[in-house]
Amino acid sequence: MATKNILPPISLVQRKEYTARIREWNDAYAAETGARRGCFVLTFGCQQNEADSEKIAGMAEEMGYEIVASPEEAHLIMVNTCAIREHAEKKALSIIGQYKHIRAKNPELIIGVCGCMTAQEHRRDELKMKYPYVTFTLGTASLHHFPKVLWDTLSLKRRFITSESEEDFTKTVAEGAPIRRVSGYRAWVSIMYGCNNFCSYCIVPYCRGRERSRAKEDIIREVRELVEAGYKEITLLGQNVNSYGKGTDCDFADLVAELDAIEGDWWLSFMTSHPKDASRKLIDVMAAGKHIARRFHLPMQSGSDRVLKVMNRHYNMEKYLDTVTYMREKMPDVVITSDIIVGFPGETEEEFEDTLRALEAVRFDMLYSFIYSPRKGTPAAEMEQIPDVVKGSRFDRLLATQNAIAAEKNKPLEGKLLRVLCDGESKGNPRVYSGRTEGGKIVFFEGAPDMVGGFVNVRIERTEAFALWGKVEK
Ligand code: SAH
Ligand code: SF4
Ligand code: F3S
Repeated sequence: MATKNILPPISLVQRKEYTARIREWNDAYAAETGARRGCFVLTFGCQQNEADSEKIAGMAEEMGYEIVASPEEAHLIMVNTCAIREHAEKKALSIIGQYKHIRAKNPELIIGVCGCMTAQEHRRDELKMKYPYVTFTLGTASLHHFPKVLWDTLSLKRRFITSESEEDFTKTVAEGAPIRRVSGYRAWVSIMYGCNNFCSYCIVPYCRGRERSRAKEDIIREVRELVEAGYKEITLLGQNVNSYGKGTDCDFADLVAELDAIEGDWWLSFMTSHPKDASRKLIDVMAAGKHIARRFHLPMQSGSDRVLKVMNRHYNMEKYLDTVTYMREKMPDVVITSDIIVGFPGETEEEFEDTLRALEAVRFDMLYSFIYSPRKGTPAAEMEQIPDVVKGSRFDRLLATQNAIAAEKNKPLEGKLLRVLCDGESKGNPRVYSGRTEGGKIVFFEGAPDMVGGFVNVRIERTEAFALWGKVEK
């Protein structure tokens, strides 16, 4: 069953108009009851989704909602979903399933589902048929329609299970949404949306549409305001962040260089870079930078040239290793991290071992490893699959190899004084604080509340594969 409800274009002026209408309705409620209607936002998935959720919360606040911490307190629930692996979708669907009980107690409750899952027709149909209490959906390229869709659903008392227009999916770069940032010292700044790469295993290009970059001036203004407001780490986001500005006269390296010139005590980082677009120019800009964190997340995915080709990654191991070598030549202390998929269709034992050998050759500081999950509509899902037991055992072997490498990479940090951005109390022990280094490594130390959100210098005493421990030095 096809979902034909496509959202018509909407201007910033119209968005403001619908926002004002809902605000009026919510203000009247607050005047009558002494409390604001609540909005609960739940986020699955990557940093891009976290950044989107900050916009959703910002828009909800602008519409007169108070952001609340639990779904039970909410009049509006927004579930921001991820579709990257089956597990992510199952988790979101299971939580949405639980909201049925909350809705049964509160029939006025509005439940919106947004994010990557809603871009897939079969998921929209599933939400429509099996989750009748889901009031509306909103794709990642349609977030700016939120006030209108919410107004329509409230005033017409109808469901809106919608799909995105071609225009939004391929061209729109909506500015002007207020952002309700979760942190007062770490900020996400989306600089481009979508992905054109169509890696054969990946659902993202089908969910987030075509690559489109924000105007350089808008990004510079946002980053400058954040630095002036005291933000200490600003992370530029894009599915393929280093293809920013393709086809314009400002490429990613130029943008990073311009941002680096913003005065202040702050770190600039970015993710995620595609190895095919990791240019020497960018590495040179990083090496010369004042604020640019010496950290590079460069997903390798596989160490086998044949597998990389079938994955449609557009680089081979020679090119990948060349980039790593150049990076270390220019910045010997750079922290390099990566993503690996094990059990891609057709991956042989020998090809998997190529990946293990590549880990030994590169020696990543950290690795995010994933078991391949077939995604409906992607080419790899149609290929012959590897049995789950084989995938599982390869995954375990990969982790064991990487854990040994990470532990060895951290060991020389013992005795070093590292600059750490303090995040606050760690889980479990209120005296032990945690923070992250410029390279993103987690550090534990005895801290105090006034350190939170600022830089501290920590003398490292002990290290393991996943963390460092030390003492603050004044
Ligand atoms: N745009 C980024 C990251 C996208 S998703 C990039 O290109 O690097 C984050 C990671 O999820 C990917 O790097 C990949 O390792 C993993 N991933 C993507 N699709 C997957 C799938 N179908 N199964 C398992 N892992 C997957
Ligand atoms: Fe997915 Fe590849 Fe795009 Fe990354 S670059 S989002 S892995 S298609
Ligand atoms: Fe998931 Fe979409 Fe991010 S699929 S990983 S939320 S881009």
